[in-house]
Amino acid sequence: MARLILFLLAFSLTALSMPTRWSADEAKFYSSISKEIQNIRKHGNDIRRPGCELSDLKLPQSSKPLPNIPGGQKLLAVAVGRGTQNYTCESESEKPTPRGALATLFDASCIAANYPQLLASLTNAALHLQQPEPFSNAPGAARMPVMGHHFFSNGTTAVFEAANMGASSVIKIEAVDAPQNSLPGVCGQLDGAVPWLFLESIPESTGKAKSIYRVNTAGGSPPKYCTGQPKEITVQYSAEYWFYG
Ligand SMILES: *[C@@H]1O[C@H](CO)[C@@H](O)[C@H](O)[C@H]1NC(C)=O
Ligand SMILES: *[C@@H]1O[C@H](CO)[C@@H](O)[C@H](O)[C@H]1NC(C)=O
Repeated sequence: MARLILFLLAFSLTALSMPTRWSADEAKFYSSISKEIQNIRKHGNDIRRPGCELSDLKLPQSSKPLPNIPGGQKLLAVAVGRGTQNYTCESESEKPTPRGALATLFDASCIAANYPQLLASLTNAALHLQQPEPFSNAPGAARMPVMGHHFFSNGTTAVFEAANMGASSVIKIEAVDAPQNSLPGVCGQLDGAVPWLFLESIPESTGKAKSIYRVNTAGGSPPKYCTGQPKEITVQYSAEYWFYG
């Protein structure tokens, strides 16, 4: 709890500088944060660690574990992704078919290293923001600069492109359900958090990251059936990506 204070303070101060852009959802979100800050102020003190050392960070686990980190690989970076998962509906009787995703990657490595307890709430916070710029503009320790982008090059191959790691092309090896208490979505899109994933690079991949884990997901799942849905469904999501190589 104590570790929350600096981040939440910085986060809400940044938010205060742009109040005209708040949606009703965001206003509610920031007001709950400010209440939490007042609470923490009464009891908290700052116990963060210096530096952005990633070597002893533990990958979050859902109720069913994802495959182990392949031998010899080290944690290169932790990112918060914020974007959309896309689906299409061919007919009313079918289920929505996944059609890739598009997300901005924010570098959360230093927050992961300094405030590990805060990580799980970052994706929820990111999902509440229509425009996640506050993350990259936030002062000091709360800053998460834009690190790169995530998109699909075809139906099965996901690409993670980041200035400091190159482009890793990966495919899904295993998926496990997100924990039941995950944020199901925002703004009427409440069909659940997308699964946690283990992704591995394909032979053609040139990026430094060889294994990527998607964890602490928020939102992103489509409605169960296509009944009453448009042909294209775009669902807002956020997730944490852990890059190993
Ligand atoms: C997903 O949908 C968004 C919004 O319609 C669009 O900008 C994006 O290109 C789509 N991405 C993919 C991979 O289809
Ligand atoms: C998708 O793209 C990757 C490289 O970007 C390629 O290796 C793979 O064969 C492609 N898959 C399909 C089904 O076209």
